Amino acid sequence: MATKDERRAQLTDVYHEARACTRCPELASTRTQVVFGAGNADADLMFVGEAPGAREDEQGIPFVGAAGKLLDELLGEVGLQRSDVFIANVLKCRPPGNRDPLPAEIENCSDYLMRQVALIEPRVVCTLGNFSTKLLRADPTGISRLHGQAEIRVIGERAVRLYPLFHPAAALYTRSLLDTLRSDIARLPGLLELALPEQPEPAESEEPVVPEPEVAAPAPEPVSPAPSAGSEPDEPDDRQLGLF
Ligand code: URA
Repeated sequence: MATKDERRAQLTDVYHEARACTRCPELASTRTQVVFGAGNADADLMFVGEAPGAREDEQGIPFVGAAGKLLDELLGEVGLQRSDVFIANVLKCRPPGNRDPLPAEIENCSDYLMRQVALIEPRVVCTLGNFSTKLLRADPTGISRLHGQAEIRVIGERAVRLYPLFHPAAALYTRSLLDTLRSDIARLPGLLELALPEQPEPAESEEPVVPEPEVAAPAPEPVSPAPSAGSEPDEPDDRQLGLF
């Protein structure tokens, strides 16, 4: 089992990989930058939105526009801050003109989201709106029927409580959706207190286990020390990851 620091380092590697991604040629040529996700790399609670908008594309951080401010406010009402949670999106690049994500783009990008879930190891995953709900439930049922109902779902190899919520952008303009989102979010602290769902057996590795040689290993080459968890990011762009 990987330690917290190892998972965080692997998440940073996935971030570096995603930052250079060109799987969707149109998105790669129109984005300002990849918006990987930000927050606590060891969070119990993860949010998954749809795709970055203009503000997010500019700043490289998810949910920094009006919908993000509303999300921050509603989280604050139940005593949660950004540094407690990890926020990601189905797509890591802004679709031009904020159009809907295309099926091929969702497919291209889903591996990054699966690896984020596997490395962050959340207990509760809140899907925000239809795109993330349909993707993570692998089912076309819409958010209006599912919001506020937690269920245990396996995402990749991780069993979590999946908790669909209305997208905060929808709640910005419709009072009744705002009230519903607020009361659904009010149930989050209780969900976070529930026991971690029973985890599936890890998939059998296809790789044969190679026994360690019994000879003494040569002395390792000296390497420069890895930055510790609390140190400054080594590249300016790493700040966008916003890991706490
Ligand atoms: N809407 C989303 O779905 N994601 C963001 O990051 C911002 C707005």
